[in-house]
Amino acid sequence: MKQTLIAPSVLSMDYSRMEQETRELNESGAKWLHFDVMDGSFVPNLTFGPDILKGFRKASDLFMDVHVMINDPEFFMDRFYEAGADNYTFHEEAVKDKAKIVTMAEHAHELGKSVGISIKPATPIEYLKPYLSLFDVFLIMSVEPGFGGQKFKPESADRIRTLRGWLDEAGLSSHIEVDGGINAETAKIVKEAGADVLVAGSYVFRSNIREAVKSLE
Ligand code: DX5
Ligand code: ZN
Repeated sequence: MKQTLIAPSVLSMDYSRMEQETRELNESGAKWLHFDVMDGSFVPNLTFGPDILKGFRKASDLFMDVHVMINDPEFFMDRFYEAGADNYTFHEEAVKDKAKIVTMAEHAHELGKSVGISIKPATPIEYLKPYLSLFDVFLIMSVEPGFGGQKFKPESADRIRTLRGWLDEAGLSSHIEVDGGINAETAKIVKEAGADVLVAGSYVFRSNIREAVKSLE
């Protein structure tokens, strides 16, 4: 069984306390920092770009896990890697020419970087099947992307279980990351289903960061 990695999403950080909360994140036991990029078009919200990631890169040694909910993710891929991204996860739905999904993954690996692919809750899990050997991270959205603080969609568990079954069958130990509505209760469900990276935003930042992270492991 893979070790569970916690990836707090800084979308839910209190930006009036950014330095303090980043320090607490660094000391919380979390291994990844989940950085949600939104363009106001692929999702109805707007967040931050590569320059803000540069700030977090200077302030934290955590694994920088960038999740882009943007149209044309190919355009920004290199910019985010240059800004400090360790992983860059883009949405299957945002890439119109599906052949580009393969070339983007290959390009990331040529740079020696980790790369991920994500699907929204309504996108069939089968859409990931052609790419099992290409990606380091499979990000299963357990809420509709765009906002923190939403309710976990329980049907996500079966999707995670199915994907883990395919990966096991193929002898692949890729990460399955789950994102949306993760708390102490839903963490148990998704870990049992086969997720090994858990994103949590509101649950982590609305309370004591270290205690919240520990309660998810
Ligand atoms: C939503 C983002 C998630 C979100 C998680 O579009 O991709 O990473 O920040 O927030 P919670 O954990 O509050 O659902
Ligand atoms: Zn996310």
